[in-house]
This record gives sequence, C-alpha cells and structure tokens, in this order.
Amino acid sequence: MRAVVYRGAYDVEVVEVPDPSIEHPADAIVRITTTNICGSDLHMYEGRTSVEEGKILGHENMGIVEEVGDAVFWVKPGDRVSVPFNIACGVCRNCNLGWTSFCLKVNPQEGMDGAAYGYANMGPYAGGQAEYLRVPFADFNLLELPPGDEHENDFTMLSDIFPTGYHGTELADVRPGHTVAVFGAGPVGLMAAHSAFIRGAARVFVVDKERDRLQLAESIGAEPVDIAKGDPVEQIVDANKGKVDRGVEAVGYQAHDPTGEEHPEMVLDNLVAVVETTGAIGVVGVYVPEDPGAANELAKTGRVAWNYGQFFANGQRMGTGQCPVKRYNRELRDLIVAGKARPSFIVSHELSLDEAPTGYENFDKRLDGWTKVLLHP
Ligand SMILES: NC(=O)c1ccc[n+]([C@@H]2O[C@H](COP(=O)([O-])OP(=O)(O)OC[C@H]3O[C@@H](n4cnc5c(N)ncnc54)[C@H](O)[C@@H]3O)[C@@H](O)[C@H]2O)c1
Ligand SMILES: [Zn+2]
Ligand SMILES: [Zn+2]
Repeated sequence: MRAVVYRGAYDVEVVEVPDPSIEHPADAIVRITTTNICGSDLHMYEGRTSVEEGKILGHENMGIVEEVGDAVFWVKPGDRVSVPFNIACGVCRNCNLGWTSFCLKVNPQEGMDGAAYGYANMGPYAGGQAEYLRVPFADFNLLELPPGDEHENDFTMLSDIFPTGYHGTELADVRPGHTVAVFGAGPVGLMAAHSAFIRGAARVFVVDKERDRLQLAESIGAEPVDIAKGDPVEQIVDANKGKVDRGVEAVGYQAHDPTGEEHPEMVLDNLVAVVETTGAIGVVGVYVPEDPGAANELAKTGRVAWNYGQFFANGQRMGTGQCPVKRYNRELRDLIVAGKARPSFIVSHELSLDEAPTGYENFDKRLDGWTKVLLHP
C-alpha cells in the first residue's frame, strides 16, 4: 500500500510499504477513507521530536472495516468507523476510569502511559496516512458511524481535534453563560471555541495572529483577538470589561510572539493574567518533558518558567494532557448527526495521499487559507 512516512525535519514522503495484517486476534484492519494532518504532526515535521525515520504518520483516521481478528465480536467488515487517536486496552485502571489517553498497557516505552498511531514516543504503532491501518483492541477502540458517506468531513474531526477542543472546555469547566478566552485559532482552538458555544458560553474570545484563522473564529460568533495588534490580555479585558471566567490553551510549547520568536511560557502567562481569580484553565496544547530544540536552556528539559506564583495567588486551577477521545466522541457524533455541531467549518483543503508533502509544507507555514488538510487515500 501507499503511506506517508517521516524522513527527517521538513521531509515526508509517500512510499510503497507492506499492507498491515491482523497481528493479534483483537485487531481490525481499516481501509482509510479520510485521514487528516494535525498540528501535532507539525511538531514531528519540524524535527522537534524524537520520532524515528520511516515511521508512518497519521493519527486522525476514519474509514471502513476491511477485516477483523477472531476475538473481535461486535465490529464487522463493512462498518464505517472513526478511529480515536488514542490506542487503549479497555481493561486497565486508567481505561476503566475513562482515561484512555493514559492507558497503562499499550505503550512499551518506560515512563509513558498512553499510545497513539504514528506518533513520537506513543508506542510502535503505524499511522493511518496510508491506505490501510491496523487497529488494536478494535471492539473497544472503534466508534461506529452511520453507513454511507454523509458528514464525512465532520466525522473525520471525531478522531482527535473535535474531542480535544471539547476536552479543553471540559478541563476549563466551561458552563452556560461563561466568558471564555481560547488561545490559538488553529484547528484545536477553533474546535474549543465551537465546543464552548455548544456548552452555552456567552462570549468566546479567540487569540492568534493568523488573519484567516481569526476570520473562521468570527464566522462561528467568536470575537477575534490579534496578538500582532497588542497585548491580548489588555484587548480581552477592554472588550469584556473585565477578566474572563475560563481559559483554554490550544497553542502548545512552540508558542511564539508575532515576530515568530518562541516563548514557551507566553500563553500560560497570558491565561493566568486574563482568567478571573478562582477560574479554571484547560491546557490541550502540547508541552513535552524534553525539547532539545527549545528556545532556552530550561525548556530543553521541559521546564517552562511560567507565572506559577500568580496562578497560585489567583486560586486558579488547571487541567492538562492528551484528550481521552472515547469520553466524548459518541456524543459529539450524535450532535453532528442532529445538525447541532458542524466541525467541518475549518476544512480548507482535501488532497490525495500523494499530495501529502505539499499539504504538510503549506499547513506548516500556516500559509493563508491552509487551516485544515484532509487526505483521501
Ligand atoms: N491534548 C491533545 O490531546 C491534543 C490533540 C491534538 C492536538 N494537540 C495540540 O494542540 C496544539 C494546537 O494544535 P493545532 O492542530 O490547532 O495546531 P496549529 O499549530 O495549527 O495551531 C496553533 C496556533 O497557535 C497560534 N499561536 C502561536 N503562538 C501563539 C500565541 N502566543 N498566542 C496565540 N496563538 C498563538 C499559531 O499561529 C497557530 O494558529 C498543538 O500543540 C497540538 O500538538 C493536543
Ligand atoms: Zn491530531
Ligand atoms: Zn488500558
């Protein structure tokens, strides 16, 4: 089959690789109909992870079940499914508590709980930017979708970013009537803004510097805040006539100022300053324990010198980490079917698998109009 593999920094290639096969009786093979490029893939693409050369990338996958192992009881060939980016066993302590993103069994790497397809440090699993994908523990992991091809571009957001944006608002405890500041108008931030409105937020501010992304935020009723026009905290406090109730971090460790210079503490500091005392902050943008390419010595060892003292003084709380997709994907699917959620509003490009290198390059440069790239193998 054809697959997108990592070659090195700023280098992905579409090559011929062996088809995946059933390796364990609980596996299924999924024929991929849509697989997305994620902002998380860009951390690897930019050479800012330890991902190995030759890894098949892709953790945002959906498709049709092609084949199942002998121990798969419920999922059948022909089923249309969404594949959560988390790979989870379904029986460990964390899986039982609903924290599939921290499954204790599936990642053989010491000190890392949780696994994913095609991702640095997330276990030996191939990604789905390919024609086929092997899915472990298929009955537990796969989400059934209505048959046919309706809502394809909405359902493809269920494998990661729609649940992840929603998770940001859950960690931030967004409730009806709240005012919310979302930092980052990338796909995850836009999904967090969409989710905040679904949860009944009164006002949502979305902060970035990319005009096209801020316009998308505006298109769903959020209020755009451009960091190139001045301090985002002042802009929000002015517009809101005070601080906001809740904050969501959807940027991550490569946060930068309008000139492009990285400041890993910048967005965390902004959130501490803009959220009301005792308010909650949900951090879904990724921070890493080691970042050899970091902007400063501390951050190379994962230490981000943010304003923890003010955070404590403010009595704020913060939730962090990878999203447990299964906790939300069923309900978010049903909101899509009911016409009450439309996460596809962010889709800018639909490409073939062979066009993946162009997709990576342009999405990575945040070129105007490249908000979310879908690949159809
Ligand atoms: N927790 C999870 O489960 C999970 C899942 C998916 C993605 N992520 C992470 O979420 C983050 C966002 O993902 P994405 O796909 O939207 O990526 P993206 O890179 O497309 O979007 C990030 C956005 O942040 C903006 N930004 C940079 N510095 C900023 C600043 N100082 N203030 C405001 N905005 C700033 C950028 O201009 C960009 O538009 C990434 O770190 C990604 O790895 C986490
Ligand atoms: Zn993703
Ligand atoms: Zn588990």
